[in-house]
Amino acid sequence: MACGQGIATRLTASLGASVVGADSSPTMIANARRHGTPEGSEIRYVVADAQTLSPFDSGSFDAATCQLALMDIPDLDAALMAIARVLRPQGWFAFVIGHPCFLVPHAQRVTIDEDRPAVTVTGYFNERFWRSSNPNGVRRAGNHHRMLSTYLNALTRAGFDVEECQEPQASDLLARQQPFYTEVPIFFGARAQLRRDTR
Ligand SMILES: C[S@@+](CC[C@H](N)C(=O)[O-])C[C@H]1O[C@@H](n2cnc3c(N)ncnc32)[C@H](O)[C@@H]1O
Repeated sequence: MACGQGIATRLTASLGASVVGADSSPTMIANARRHGTPEGSEIRYVVADAQTLSPFDSGSFDAATCQLALMDIPDLDAALMAIARVLRPQGWFAFVIGHPCFLVPHAQRVTIDEDRPAVTVTGYFNERFWRSSNPNGVRRAGNHHRMLSTYLNALTRAGFDVEECQEPQASDLLARQQPFYTEVPIFFGARAQLRRDTR
């Protein structure tokens, strides 16, 4: 879901899954197609709004993934309900988002104890659409700040049980480039399964 130029789509296909990549942007879908398909794998790309996933039949997928896009989608409940609809019973959904506790609008990177990178956060409770003023940041395109509890509660409302969460530590490369991320996570990821009684 919201596959963009298909980075995760191709990875998933290379692991042996038969994959459909969906994105609301025809340009991104065209870019994804241009990248081709890993040898021996199968990918179909479709232009589709994540809030409805209307081209897809109910119960037609074993699993769904969404990488770094739930923050871009205005109606989170609609998107999760759409995923629940297209999954088979007990299908699973895995996603990763920018960590909503630390990538808060106007969070500031500071140094404490002379050399320790840290972040100051305020306005966490104020859920809203915002754009970063950082001309080099990906969030200059704008995204929806939501509390972590909003994501988890929306999953529950859509019929999912959270199985596992992850807050990965910075890779060596990221730690060198942005030491701040050795202290706080940049990503939050989770895998959730449709409850048996859903649908
Ligand atoms: C930050 S990009 C991430 C793309 C890809 N998942 C990746 O990790 O490279 C966000 C993507 O969400 C897509 N998007 C935004 N709103 C959407 C919506 N309502 N339905 C489907 N895709 C949407 C955008 O077109 C864009 O490709």
